[in-house]
Amino acid sequence: MANLSTTYVGLKLKNPIIVSSAGITGTAELIKRAADNGAGAVVMKSLGDRTWTSPRFAVLHDPASDQTTFYSVEGHSKLGDQGYADQVAKAKASVDIPVIASITSMNDALWTQRAQLMEQAGADALELDISCPHGAHMLIGKDTLAEIGRVTELVKSAIHIPVIPKLTPQASDPIAVALDAQAHHADAIVMFNRFTGLDVDIRAQAPILHGGYAGHGGAWAIRYVMRWISEVYPKLKIPIASSGGIASAEDVVKMLLVGATTVQTCTAVILNGYGIVNTLVRGLEKYMDEMGHATIDEFRGRATERLQGAATVDRTRKFMAAINAELCTACAQCELVCIYDAPKPTDLGAYAIDPVRCSGCGLCAYLCATEAITISEVK
Ligand SMILES: Cc1cc2nc3c(=O)[nH]c(=O)nc-3n(C[C@H](O)[C@H](O)[C@H](O)COP(=O)(O)O)c2cc1C
Ligand code: SF4
Ligand code: SF4
Repeated sequence: MANLSTTYVGLKLKNPIIVSSAGITGTAELIKRAADNGAGAVVMKSLGDRTWTSPRFAVLHDPASDQTTFYSVEGHSKLGDQGYADQVAKAKASVDIPVIASITSMNDALWTQRAQLMEQAGADALELDISCPHGAHMLIGKDTLAEIGRVTELVKSAIHIPVIPKLTPQASDPIAVALDAQAHHADAIVMFNRFTGLDVDIRAQAPILHGGYAGHGGAWAIRYVMRWISEVYPKLKIPIASSGGIASAEDVVKMLLVGATTVQTCTAVILNGYGIVNTLVRGLEKYMDEMGHATIDEFRGRATERLQGAATVDRTRKFMAAINAELCTACAQCELVCIYDAPKPTDLGAYAIDPVRCSGCGLCAYLCATEAITISEVK
């Protein structure tokens, strides 16, 4: 059976799946739920100074795109500094997986003080949340990107446990930010927190929920995260924890294939309950068994190693669509979308592809409801 164990910032994890920082990891009791459902580690809800709004969650379904967005504005831990530290100690006593604390602040003395408190409470590592999409760093005039390196260095000099800054996806050059975090002695980085978003009620003609900007994310975010991890992974010496868009075991595998050392999940747990952690772990194990991988190291980063750059993409191959007349219901969807006018109705009540017109773009095959269209290489 596959061995899922992973070493992350010197910590031994039984698997790479981490329940990430949010209300779902706010107390020792909730952390135990994550652990009981198989998490490899947990990052606690961030300790900071932002109070809570109510309601604070919206699940936005866009029927046109069939996408769901989790839109939310959660405050920081309500426990207070000492109460939070007490929960770290309690969590450490009740679970046998690493407990990573998370802090934020707008004040250097408080960064240091909170970091030391977490270390004393027994936290295994510390995340720095400088990237909250509706938090002070992002919205109230600090240079978030410069702060990531500066605060990492500050906290590193104050404690001995691993320090892991969490990056924002809202940077023009995430590679530079990641390298800067490494240069300031980060032990790992988290890529990423969520995006800052806005939604509007068109009848009230005003922003929804609390009336301000909110964090937004969902399964759709995964491709953005994978893209940047694939860019950063070959350039970085420290490990990357992915965060953003995990909804299935396949997503976990994809993150590992692009180079993540660990895979954090948050929205999936909020919307489906802690049991999904077990589904992700079992799914990863099944994938590894099916692929014959004994360890994650055997395939971590493999997709990134195979990534083609703009100059090396093979542009000589030719593909073409073909329609299986027996499966075609003559719905005309392919005709509607093909700008090359290649699909044509036949006298037999089905569609056929004009090989001279088809440019092999592949679009119709994705939209045919009966899977009547295949795209194959023209030799
Ligand atoms: C309701 C909610 C609260 C969150 N609170 C925190 C937080 O306190 N600190 C933090 O670093 N990230 C926080 N996050 C971000 C998540 O940890 C995670 O990075 C992000 O949601 C992307 O992962 P996902 O797509 O799996 O949700 C929060 C996310 C949500 C949805
Ligand atoms: S989309 Fe599919 S079913 Fe519809 S006409 Fe084209 S091949 Fe036939
Ligand atoms: S593969 Fe593209 S070009 Fe060819 S028929 Fe389908 S939509 Fe048209």
